[in-house]
Amino acid sequence: MIVLGIESSCDETGIALYNSETGALLADQLYSQIELHAQYGGVVPELASRDHVRKIVPLIEQVCAEAVMTLQDIDAVAYTAGPGLIGALLVGACVGRSMAWALDIPSVEIHHMEGHLLAPLLADDKPEFPFLCLLVSGGHTLLVDVQGLGDYTILGDTLDDAAGEAFDKTAKMLGLPYPGGRYIAELAEHGDVTRFKFPRPMMNRPGLDFSFSGLKTFTRLTWEDNQDDDDIEQLKADIAACFQDAVVDTLTKKCLRAIKQTGHTSLVISGGVSANLQLRETLKKMGQKHHFKSYFPDLKYCTDNGAMIAIAGAMRLEQNIPEKETAIRAQPRWS
Ligand code: KG4
Ligand code: ZN
Repeated sequence: MIVLGIESSCDETGIALYNSETGALLADQLYSQIELHAQYGGVVPELASRDHVRKIVPLIEQVCAEAVMTLQDIDAVAYTAGPGLIGALLVGACVGRSMAWALDIPSVEIHHMEGHLLAPLLADDKPEFPFLCLLVSGGHTLLVDVQGLGDYTILGDTLDDAAGEAFDKTAKMLGLPYPGGRYIAELAEHGDVTRFKFPRPMMNRPGLDFSFSGLKTFTRLTWEDNQDDDDIEQLKADIAACFQDAVVDTLTKKCLRAIKQTGHTSLVISGGVSANLQLRETLKKMGQKHHFKSYFPDLKYCTDNGAMIAIAGAMRLEQNIPEKETAIRAQPRWS
């Protein structure tokens, strides 16, 4: 089956073609709206929807050209139906459903976080079910017990901010561009991680939930209390390093706790924050010591993309071909 994947839940239009028989990604195009939203310090929903409208059809034409195919070669369409920005989601949903109707092929609605969860299966060295999954994006921080496709138990969630959101807010405070996760990581390379002792939220409590709002406040107070520092650039780097260290320490220790609790030997880390190199290194080392293996998506599939939606769609369709329907649904909130 050749599956067209469409992702438009936020500020990236991602389109991909995936062959479910060979497991090959045939084409993959991504258009990021980051520059459009950067001047506002965050995503402006109306601008996001309009830009998806502009880009979605040309990108579909581009993936077909890249795979040397026509629309008639597509066997099914998978699109992100939620969670996300309603206007942005509707663009992908309208195009996905309409194409499926016009081509008389099935279409399948994909949960954006399931796309992230399955993105590591696009890699050559891929995990097998069952596994433990840490999903860390701009909107979510979840620890999930994955027994198989669609068989997910959430073991831990954030009580307030998501990990990526905490990165973005800290970056904004330090005057870095949006989204700031990767800028914090770059700045942290020159920072002194021992200068401040940042808190490790929820570590002293049992359970697998996360909380990042206390850390965010601590970071802000540290920034405000040190404004008379002679070297503000070094202060920023030191804060970035201490902040990143606290987030990575918290995330990885909770992963270890979950590994011990569940007995899993495979840990999958996915979502935008899984691009963080300190997080990757720390989990690799922890795995060597505690006998589990970590799997990450390729860096370009950590953040939003169409390939993860195409593979999720292909797997869902292998399990069950849904009835053809024309209703266009998008769920901004979807548990
Ligand atoms: O998965 P994603 O593209 O979008 C959502 O579904 O939310 O994740 C975006 C998040 C942003 O918060 C961004 O700052 C963060 O991923 N991010 C990073 C890094 N690269 C992206 N956070 C930490 N370190 C990175 N290298
Ligand atoms: Zn995402």
